[in-house]
Parts: sequence; structure tokens; C-alpha cells
Amino acid sequence: MNRHRFHGDPERFRAVAAYIAGRYGRRVRHVADVAGGQGMLARILRKKYNYAAEVVDPRGWTLVGVAYRVCAFAPSAANYYDLIVGLHPDQATRAVAEAALVRPTVLVPCCNFWSAERLGQEALLRAIEDYYDARGVAHERVPFAFAGPKNVGLVSEPPVSRQEGQTDER
Ligand SMILES: C[S@@+](CC[C@H](N)C(=O)[O-])C[C@H]1O[C@@H](n2cnc3c(N)ncnc32)[C@H](O)[C@@H]1O
Repeated sequence: MNRHRFHGDPERFRAVAAYIAGRYGRRVRHVADVAGGQGMLARILRKKYNYAAEVVDPRGWTLVGVAYRVCAFAPSAANYYDLIVGLHPDQATRAVAEAALVRPTVLVPCCNFWSAERLGQEALLRAIEDYYDARGVAHERVPFAFAGPKNVGLVSEPPVSRQEGQTDER
């Protein structure tokens, strides 16, 4: 893995993949690695844990052997997957949070692409939690085993009534 160059702690891919395998096991199969960049997370999910994981990212420069879609992630596509993951998803942060209305989601926000106002890490997490609370999304904070401070994720489950329904495009 160290042959590839990544910004931030490269351990994040292994840490999040191991968490997903431990938490969801065989209950999920199709995983969207939203804003997955080169696709290291999807690669580990696929090769080590046997998930059908694919990157959804408009850049389209994934590692060889990683499944991918070259497009911006639309929350309306969430129902295609069993689990939505946004690891440092930048401009896709809100789309991932919208997907949380209908699918289990792991969202590890990085920079503030949530609002025009300046938000630090804690305020950003709280803003997304408020969004979830207002829509009945169950969530918990999970500190992942990689270097902080951008290592805290929001792991969520949609309201039961919305799991097969439409996303909230407001
Ligand atoms: C900070 S990088 C994170 C990449 C990877 N998840 C990681 O942890 O290394 C943010 C990624 O978000 C992607 N991105 C930006 N807007 C997006 C959108 N609307 N839908 C999906 N991906 C998007 C960018 O192309 C970029 O690859």
C-alpha cells in the first residue's frame, strides 16, 4: 500500500475498512466509496473483505482493478447500495448526509463543504448531527484508528420508514 501516495494518514483506509467489516459483516454487500479518489478504501473492502465496493467520484483516476463510476454522487443513487461511505468526501459531504436518510452511512467529514459559514471540525460534526436529528436519522460518533483530527466519523442508520423511500433533496 505504501507504494501509493496519499494526502493525510494512509492508515485511514485500513481503519475504516476494518470498522465496516466488523460492524456490518455480511449484512451489506454493495458499498459506495463516495468521493473515493484513487479508491484505496474500495480496494481493501473488495480484496480483503470481499465486498462489492465501487468508487463514485468525478475525477476518475482510480487504482487499477478498482470498480468505479466517474460522476458526482447523487443521493438519488443511494438505494442502489447497501452502505454509503464518505471518507473525507469534500463537495460530496451533503450528498452523503442526504443518502443517510435512506441507507446506512459512514461519513467522516474533513473540510467544511457543508455551509458557507466557517465551521471547525466540532462545529461541522454538530451541524451534520443536527441535520440527522431533524430527520430522524440515528447516529453515533466513531473515532477511527488513524491520525486525527479528521478521524471522527458519523455512523448512521436511516429512519425505518425511509429505508426504501426517496432521499430528501431539500
Ligand atoms: C479529499 S479527496 C478524498 C479522497 C479519498 N476519499 C481519500 O480519503 O483519500 C475528495 C474527493 O472528493 C471528490 N469529489 C468532489 N466532489 C464530488 C462529488 N460531488 N461526488 C463524488 N466525489 C466528489 C474529489 O474528486 C476527490 O477525489
